[in-house]
Amino acid sequence: MSASLYVGLMTGTSADGIDACLASFPENRPVEHANLQRPFGDALRERILAVCRADATLADAATLDIELADASASAVTELLSRAGIAAADVRAIGSHGQTVLHRPEGSAPTTIQLGDPHRLAVLTGIDTVADFRRADVAAGGEGAPLAPAFHAQVFAAEAERRAVVNLGGIANVTLLRPGEPVLGFDTGPANVLLDAWIGRQQVERFDAEGAWAAGGQVVAGLLERMCADPWFQRPPPKSTGRELFHAGWLDAHLTHTDPQPAPRDVQATLAELTARTVAEGIQQAGRVDRVLVCGGGAYNPDLLARLQRRLDGPPVETTAEYGIAPNHVEAMAFAWLARQRIAERPGNCPSVTGASRDLILGSLIRAPGVAKG
Ligand SMILES: Nc1ncnc2c1ncn2[C@@H]1O[C@H](COP(=O)(O)OP(=O)(O)O)[C@@H](O)[C@H]1O
Ligand SMILES: [Mg+2]
Repeated sequence: MSASLYVGLMTGTSADGIDACLASFPENRPVEHANLQRPFGDALRERILAVCRADATLADAATLDIELADASASAVTELLSRAGIAAADVRAIGSHGQTVLHRPEGSAPTTIQLGDPHRLAVLTGIDTVADFRRADVAAGGEGAPLAPAFHAQVFAAEAERRAVVNLGGIANVTLLRPGEPVLGFDTGPANVLLDAWIGRQQVERFDAEGAWAAGGQVVAGLLERMCADPWFQRPPPKSTGRELFHAGWLDAHLTHTDPQPAPRDVQATLAELTARTVAEGIQQAGRVDRVLVCGGGAYNPDLLARLQRRLDGPPVETTAEYGIAPNHVEAMAFAWLARQRIAERPGNCPSVTGASRDLILGSLIRAPGVAKG
């Protein structure tokens, strides 16, 4: 094998499931060997959301920590069996974990991801890197987004100004401009509110292809009220999560909307909120030549069309056209971040997170009983 193999595991704000990827990076170019998407069952997803809402006990959080490690280990086992690769041939796992608290500001800045990496290392027999965000937060940064360094490695072009947009639970943009520092920040909610609203109105986890939103009318007053949230006006560096953008945030804005809009129009308005705030984020870079979308939202043509209309210029494409399927990008980024950690190279972009310096990210847990160089 010409380059070491790494597993990346991502469980994002949407809490939809575990994305797993087996990759290598010969000469710094990503090569994907296998990929796996493991949706969470309803009961596990509800336990995750309960811990995020803080209406669960510490013991519940501790149990979830173990359950997520077990689910991650099982995803790794299946991924390797699909690829026909033995655990001993994998250099390390980069496990993001499930964020249950992200609070990089204030007097006690912190970010907490669950999915016990010690248990994951024991169960898989593979060295495991986890807690990628905490060093950056400790150094005064947002701890997020972390994908921009990887986006810069794989999607930057010498003669083009590009924006990479990750439409996960939260949306984040990476601005790649030749000769300038990488910029990146969260722009606000994407699927987190779209999923929450359709989940309340129908027995659906998400609005497949954005079909429900596509048939709705944007409610201008509601859109303006949501956009007036001071978070959107804050300059970068900035990151966010379910702490701010949850169903209660939407309800607070709906309470002040009269008459109450039709449910479908609320879905359309939420999609428009994402498109508008992402477009405004991209426009902070001045002109861009091209927009590359990844994350689950890349499979939502209604959202992509809204973004294209808001941008009025650069073509909106998905990362599929640039070699990586949209729903594989984040997991691959954590495989790459594991490699950065093993090589003792920085993983953050201080120009993105606002941390005081370049940092080697993540705690490395050696698989017990396996000695490796
Ligand atoms: N076919 C689809 N149509 C519309 N939305 C989709 C589709 N596939 C995935 N999604 C959205 O993408 C979300 C998952 O995106 P993901 O990138 O995994 O986010 P996160 O990183 O927050 O977990 C789902 O919850 C759903 O809202
Ligand atoms: Mg996900």
